[in-house]
Amino acid sequence: MSYLTVALAKGRLAELAMDLFTSIGMDCAEMKEKTRKLIFTDEEHKMKFILVKASDVPTYVEYGAADIGIVGKDTLLEEHRNLYEMINLDFGKCKMAVCGPIEIKDEFSNINNLRVASKYPYIANSFFKDVKGQTIELIKLNGSVELAPLVGLSDVIVDIVESGRTLKENGLDVLEDICPLSAWFVVNKVSMKMHTPRIMDIVAKFKEELKKA
Ligand code: PRP
Repeated sequence: MSYLTVALAKGRLAELAMDLFTSIGMDCAEMKEKTRKLIFTDEEHKMKFILVKASDVPTYVEYGAADIGIVGKDTLLEEHRNLYEMINLDFGKCKMAVCGPIEIKDEFSNINNLRVASKYPYIANSFFKDVKGQTIELIKLNGSVELAPLVGLSDVIVDIVESGRTLKENGLDVLEDICPLSAWFVVNKVSMKMHTPRIMDIVAKFKEELKKA
């Protein structure tokens, strides 16, 4: 039997994904140890787990370097890769939203060439162009996006809101929701054909676990 490779998004989602694989009998103990290793193997089930940067998970899966990926919907929307989105795993729940100073809540939709800072240029551009029909100037950032409106780099931001703490502690608010987000189980299209029974078995077991939650 060949190995099935699973790409996990490093960070909080990886921990939750490991818990899910453990709950269906896979061995993720080695991965839970704090090491710098990036590949882990469960010999009994012929599974390999690789830890990759969240935004790279869809790339590994599309090219078939990983058969399966566990990744946030935000990354899937931003990367829009060619793969199967199989199940919403319903953990890592948060939302994508337009955020900024509450004072501009009523007017930001009417500002021409609104300056929008985001780690998610595709999502931000699509939302303003296709949903709101508004022209924007997109400023791509790589982190600490909440700073942008505070120092005059942008009018608003498009970012993930989970607890809302980062916004609150920086005097910002949600101005408009874009969409809900959570972790998804995604599969390479060729792998799905080559390993249908094994992949569908994991899908069925995950669905059972999700029912219990
Ligand atoms: C994410 C996101 C927000 C924050 C939201 O950033 O971009 O900044 O978490 O979480 P909260 O609503 O619970 O406060 P992350 O921690 O990944 O850091 P980054 O901004 O440097 O990317």
